[in-house]
Amino acid sequence: MQRKHLLAGVATAGILTLALSACGSRTDSAGGGGGENAEGGLVGVSMPTQQSERWIADGENVQSTLEELGYEVDVQFANDDIPTQVSQIENMISSGAQALVIAAIDGTTLTDVLQSAADQGISVISYDRLINGTENVDYYTTFDNFEVGVQQATSLLTGLGILDENGEETGEEGPFNIELFAGSPDDNNATFFWDGAMETLQPYLDSGVLNVPSGQLDFEQAAILRWLPETAQERMENILTVIGDTKLDGVLSPYDGLSIGIISALTSGGYSADDLPVITGQDAEVGSVKSIIAGEQYSTIFKDTRLLAEQAAQMVDAVLAGEEPEVNDTETYDNGEKVVPSYLLESTIVTVDNYEEVLIDSGYYTEDDLQ
Ligand code: BGC
Repeated sequence: MQRKHLLAGVATAGILTLALSACGSRTDSAGGGGGENAEGGLVGVSMPTQQSERWIADGENVQSTLEELGYEVDVQFANDDIPTQVSQIENMISSGAQALVIAAIDGTTLTDVLQSAADQGISVISYDRLINGTENVDYYTTFDNFEVGVQQATSLLTGLGILDENGEETGEEGPFNIELFAGSPDDNNATFFWDGAMETLQPYLDSGVLNVPSGQLDFEQAAILRWLPETAQERMENILTVIGDTKLDGVLSPYDGLSIGIISALTSGGYSADDLPVITGQDAEVGSVKSIIAGEQYSTIFKDTRLLAEQAAQMVDAVLAGEEPEVNDTETYDNGEKVVPSYLLESTIVTVDNYEEVLIDSGYYTEDDLQ
């Protein structure tokens, strides 16, 4: 797989025109409206889990956007269980879906079911996570995942005072003790996040400004299967045992759910809420934004799932009309069988300093959501 840093050419999220009223909003226009290109028909939407708010919002936003375009939509959540996801997709195929929008649990496990989709001429959009090892995936929409990792590491460096708010080095030499966490090894995104983060941190590890007391610097050591908070908590507890009295200044965490587990381990390990290390995250989930406001977690990465859902729905609508969907990357996402034409969106670093502007002013959350 090619892990290229997409420096330019990412169209801004702002060009998307359809504004959804709220994250998670629904309409009841199933089969009604009729998009410009659509004649309706069933679209199957397969999401990995309801254990994380972001995927619930994704499911609801894809559904409402497709319904506004005139489609009937079947959304299923697979409880992070691969056989469940496969059988849900099989059911969508046998119910006559014309297109599938899939956020895979494990990007390599859908080859057979997608072969039957292809045999029946069903179009497949890979949603947020790349589906690997099959040519039967037509388009992909996601965020610039390498850049998400860069943003996570950059916010860690800013939180530690190594970079200032403009990204300039302050001359701060540390040394700072940090620990590193990665996402699920079966999720193609996890290596992109890791690679972006490690490319950003490596110069400071090399110069000794950053130090990893556990010595666990490999993706395999840092990876948390299925992104489970409890697994991250356990790993953090083990690290605290290994490093003894060494005080941590920072933790690279690639997802808010993991950050919650990491914070639990740190507070039971003797850290008080006001001397926690600088901890990063991803997804701007409500609990973690509250934690940022409370001064526990330091940062998260906001990925506007309204825009991702809109992009996926536009791809479905174009493909079913026999048109080419808009893409802005035809190089980065090689799934082992083909380079999947992709549309990448931009993400934003969120801290206590900008959460109101980014999350509330944009209508993603209300003030009440974050009370
Ligand atoms: C998504 C992240 C999310 C993670 C865990 C990744 O594939 O891109 O936004 O934090 O899965 O759900």
